[in-house]
Amino acid sequence: KKKIIIDCDPGIDDVLAISFAINSGYYDILGITTVSGNVEASLAYNNVLKVLDFEKVRIPVYMGAEVPLERELVTAKETHGMDGLGESDLPFTYRDPEAKDAVDFILDSIKEDKEIKIFALGPLTNIAKALKKDREAFEGVEVISMGGAFRSHGNCSPVAEFNYWVDPHAADYVLKNLPTKLKIMPLDATRKFVLTPNTISYVTHLDRERAEFIRSITNFYMDFHFEYENLIGSVINDPLTFLADMNPSLFTMEEYFCEVQLDGYAMGQLIVDEYDFYKKEANAVLYVDIDEKLAMKEFLAGLFKGYREE
Ligand code: BDR
Ligand code: CA
Repeated sequence: KKKIIIDCDPGIDDVLAISFAINSGYYDILGITTVSGNVEASLAYNNVLKVLDFEKVRIPVYMGAEVPLERELVTAKETHGMDGLGESDLPFTYRDPEAKDAVDFILDSIKEDKEIKIFALGPLTNIAKALKKDREAFEGVEVISMGGAFRSHGNCSPVAEFNYWVDPHAADYVLKNLPTKLKIMPLDATRKFVLTPNTISYVTHLDRERAEFIRSITNFYMDFHFEYENLIGSVINDPLTFLADMNPSLFTMEEYFCEVQLDGYAMGQLIVDEYDFYKKEANAVLYVDIDEKLAMKEFLAGLFKGYREE
């Protein structure tokens, strides 16, 4: 099994991603770190406990950054609900966070083992802080980040995607300082990955309890998409980072030099030097397109045992 760390801000799609990573059987999740984004880090922490309780697994959870590097925190409660999980009010048993903080946990882990991959499903604040503290520790370490919009439009402004908009300084810092190329899952690919109410109804016969869990957290998200985008279904961004790692052939990848706009109207925009104006070496691998039907099949197969046998 591949050793990984999940850095996240749950968030409905973060929870679906964590569930998928656990059930895929592909990963040894060493720890989960939380960051403020969709909701404050402390609420995100509770939401991680909720999904771990549902999955009946015990994974250490570490608290991370409560605010972005320089900007004031802006959350996404209109998209994810006041609790960050579609106001689903899921039960959970509280336990205190691990004593170490997210940055030290990440650094200590990757210093020991370079094979550990980091999946960053929220703003890149924790990763940037860890990188600032000890860049050398990241030598050879792969980081996969959900964020940015390239040829597609933004979801926070005409040009900016949420994770990079919340902490543009962190995203830009990571892009420019990570010793390896940052792997980026932008909205270009994720927008095509839509979970519909029909799909949830369909998988109910495979595992009623799991389907209900998904329904309870996505109802709010579905309403949001219907209201703002006239879409029946919800775009689930974060799980695609895992699918890309497990099955890269589902995606089209392109490598470019990228940076993030730090202020002004275009704040948070991922700027991709597709035509090599800057003559700079590529610092990112972007998943620019996806075979969304096959990806959905793989996603459901990972989550619902028995799906493949049908
Ligand atoms: C990203 O922002 C959050 O709302 C989601 O969890 C995802 O990580 C999409 O822009
Ligand atoms: Ca997220």
